[in-house]
Amino acid sequence: MAFNKVTTTPFDDQKPGTSGLRKKVTVFQQPHYLENFVQSTFNAAGNCQGKTLVVGGDGRYYNATAIQTILKMAAANGFSHVWVGQNGILSTPAASCVIRRYQAFGGIILSASHNPAGVDGDFGIKFNISNGGPAPESITNAIFTNSQQIEQYQISDASDIDLGQLGTQQLDGMSVQVIDSVADYAELMQSLFDFTAIRDLLTQGTFRMRFDAMHAVTGPYATEILENQLGAPKGTVINGVPLPDFGQGHPDPNLTYAEELVAEMFSANAPDFGAASDGDGDRNMILGDNIFVTPSDSLAILAANATLVPAYKNGLSGIARSMPTSQAADRVAEKLGIEAHETPTGWKFFGNLLDADRATLCGEESFGTGSNHIREKDGLWAVLFWLNVLAVEKRSVEDIVHQHWQEFGRNYYTRHDYEAVPSEQAQSLMQHLQNQLADLPGKQFNGNTVSYADNFSYTDPVDQSVSENQGIRIGFESGDRIIYRLSGTGTEGATLRVYIESYEADQNKQHQDTQLALAALIELAGSLAMITDLIGRTAPTVIT
Ligand code: G1P
Ligand code: ZN
Repeated sequence: MAFNKVTTTPFDDQKPGTSGLRKKVTVFQQPHYLENFVQSTFNAAGNCQGKTLVVGGDGRYYNATAIQTILKMAAANGFSHVWVGQNGILSTPAASCVIRRYQAFGGIILSASHNPAGVDGDFGIKFNISNGGPAPESITNAIFTNSQQIEQYQISDASDIDLGQLGTQQLDGMSVQVIDSVADYAELMQSLFDFTAIRDLLTQGTFRMRFDAMHAVTGPYATEILENQLGAPKGTVINGVPLPDFGQGHPDPNLTYAEELVAEMFSANAPDFGAASDGDGDRNMILGDNIFVTPSDSLAILAANATLVPAYKNGLSGIARSMPTSQAADRVAEKLGIEAHETPTGWKFFGNLLDADRATLCGEESFGTGSNHIREKDGLWAVLFWLNVLAVEKRSVEDIVHQHWQEFGRNYYTRHDYEAVPSEQAQSLMQHLQNQLADLPGKQFNGNTVSYADNFSYTDPVDQSVSENQGIRIGFESGDRIIYRLSGTGTEGATLRVYIESYEADQNKQHQDTQLALAALIELAGSLAMITDLIGRTAPTVIT
């Protein structure tokens, strides 16, 4: 067995996006493509000699193949030890948990989150640092720079590791420990929540729940924790067997794609609680009997009820939300007298705030919620948090949500996505908006005066790093907001996201249909951006 230095030439498209590098499987299958990116990552990460790495992924097609390559490259790059999930499986939150628990140098997570999988689907790879969170922009930029200059990569010619067999194996001088994918994560959950109270809720009385794993990575985690450890009846977890193509589905837990669960939760005989998670297990959707809880509201409600949960019984240090996420959480932070942070889109921007204990809970409108227990968003954690609150409160999801609105007001909120837009058209739409920014403040639309219009720029309060061009914001004196940004995770053309929010303090007006309540703002958002003229669309592809 030997370490080989393989000569290669750069690919020009290896710039990590919102969450690592995501491309079609066929792009990753090009000779040297994966290897170039992995070597660029190791180069950017710093000295790997004698270090420990964690490797795992969401089980999608190409997961196991990529892991064998990464292990051989890790050995040739000097790593002395690797923790890898059995059969190559680690949900994104579990990977973050394992990195932290075993104090690894970092981890490589193979996932394209909720993007469709399979031979013709998407694949993705990202690097997490020793705090368990996604690498900050300083490192992702360095990865890209390395990828543009790369001339060779290092790889061992050892044979494949048996990823199915638990325990330690040797790979060219590096030890590889295949670990149970669920155990460490499940132990962490037990340490955060009142499992006794949740078990009572699930096993005594009439409470019923459903969890949709969408044939993706959360299946084994949810089955072990909800059914085996907490006693929920068998069958509580549906679509619980992970498949390499996610059953041809689109494992994005929202009202459009989790249609089986949504149909049940909005039926006459709906369970009391419903939830779903995405491809790699970091997203969550929360539903009650005939009610959907927006992710922005969920963050605010969890924050307002956090002291009911053992892990947060002493209160929160602060709450952080991504810029497009509704301002509902800010109202809770204000009432609690704690810090509220507004960061650019992407979990990597929460890392510093969590490390510095400036935030305990974080959330994004894109079905992401999490806390300082790890450095990724965490789907099952959010589900257990809700269950813990329900177990203590003994009220329905609907009751809890409505009471929250009464107390804090309701932030009506929607996101309209226009997918697969030709990139040039999307760019010209954003430019058209950019050109108007200076003139918008002070203008009135439907009696609503624009108070600010800008392209969001963020200065990290911990390390003072600056991230610019993070989305166009148009804010009104009423607190209403319209936000536009282009997705950084798509693999085909561009995706335009339009986020629309309006605050309603009046209890008598808090129970309208969201799209109706926001109709005037939605129309304004379309006309300011000239959506129909500039990208030729009359309706969004997906509404969440
Ligand atoms: C999307 C979401 C963002 C999330 C990311 C990774 O990114 O909008 O909140 O952090 O996926 O799950 P986008 O495609 O908008 O860049
Ligand atoms: Zn995900």
